[in-house]
Amino acid sequence: MKSGSSDGTEDSVVDESSTKYGQLPVTVANLWTSAQRKSNSIHEISYRACFKAELPEFFITRYSNDGDVVYDPFMGRGTTPVEAALNRRIPFGVDINPLSVIFALPRLAPPSVDEVRKRLIEIPMESALHPDIDLTMFFHERTESEIMSVRKYLSDRRKDEAEDKVDRFIRMVATNRLTGHSSGFFSVYTLPPNQAATQESQVRINRRLGQVPVYKDVKSIILRKTKSLLRDIDNQSLNTLRDYGKKALLGVLDARDTSSLIKDGTVSLTVTSPPFLNIVQYKLDNWLRLWFNGIDLSDRKREPFVTSNMSQWSKFTGEVFTDLYRITKAGGRVAFEVGEIRNGSLKLEEYVLDAGKKAGFDVERLFINSQKFTKTSNIWGVKNNRDGTNTNRIVLFRKGG
Ligand SMILES: C[S@@+](CC[C@H](N)C(=O)[O-])C[C@H]1O[C@@H](n2cnc3c(N)ncnc32)[C@H](O)[C@@H]1O
Repeated sequence: MKSGSSDGTEDSVVDESSTKYGQLPVTVANLWTSAQRKSNSIHEISYRACFKAELPEFFITRYSNDGDVVYDPFMGRGTTPVEAALNRRIPFGVDINPLSVIFALPRLAPPSVDEVRKRLIEIPMESALHPDIDLTMFFHERTESEIMSVRKYLSDRRKDEAEDKVDRFIRMVATNRLTGHSSGFFSVYTLPPNQAATQESQVRINRRLGQVPVYKDVKSIILRKTKSLLRDIDNQSLNTLRDYGKKALLGVLDARDTSSLIKDGTVSLTVTSPPFLNIVQYKLDNWLRLWFNGIDLSDRKREPFVTSNMSQWSKFTGEVFTDLYRITKAGGRVAFEVGEIRNGSLKLEEYVLDAGKKAGFDVERLFINSQKFTKTSNIWGVKNNRDGTNTNRIVLFRKGG
């Protein structure tokens, strides 16, 4: 473990072994948010409650080696698997949200900007295409038929089993550009891209702002975002991503049972952030993105985990840890985010510590990311800064052996 000053400078890691929570050693420092650290542009896909890529990078570079398997059972946009591949680790990940694989996989096999440009030219734009649902409150009529043309092209390519990495990349970018609050999106001004407004609430937003959807050029927006995502990808990182991306294992699965995909004792490191109590409504937030991808979840047996009930959350976490124990190698680790919810009145660490221990893990250390830490500050009062969950506390577990 490196050490440095606690003033928030680059890489400062203060090993506060003397600071204990019960018997648990705690490290408090500016671990993954210093201004000097900047994650790769390939991560810039918006997803509700995603973590910064610097967080998995911190654990990957310290607790795994080249060629190890690094996993996230709640991979979301794929921050952990993508960062794993960039660091020459084999990326594994699952999420119950089918959009996760749509976001993660194409960035583990990125095409060149030229390949995307050429493919976009080939997509026929059919002006008579209109959606089966009313989207006029989001899109200009011409934009709407361009979106429909891209959607149809991608769907036909899939049906014909002709879909390739360029199509998958375009699908990912288009899904990401559907709605948002700047000129870089297909829609009129609306909520940020990871929180789709309903049709009714968009009508209200338009009325309040006195706005109507103006024409947006769908292909140019896709190309612009492609360039932006790939701007940090030089030849070396492209080859690394492709080499390690080839070995990726990603799935749409419930984190409680991944036995159909992941073998026992294969994972060296897990870095993950679980769904917290009912803070995020994944299905509602994603309705338009799901529609674009032709995904109907109405008949799905298992929903993304959403509950406001603490005992259900504990049971869920316990089952997740049992599966994590099964797939983790002897000596492997799990870095598990613990949240502070309901304004700090409920801290999840005790539930998470219990669940990890019950599954068989040893608890190694608690990491708290803090921009400014003084010895006198109350470490459990480190303030939350995002979406009602504290993203700054990670418990590190180790499987003995
Ligand atoms: C806090 S987000 C993780 C975000 C991720 N760290 C990222 O950077 O994008 C939690 C994720 O858990 C997923 N999820 C909810 N219930 C799940 C379950 N039972 N099994 C697997 N994933 C689930 C949600 O779809 C969501 O993507």
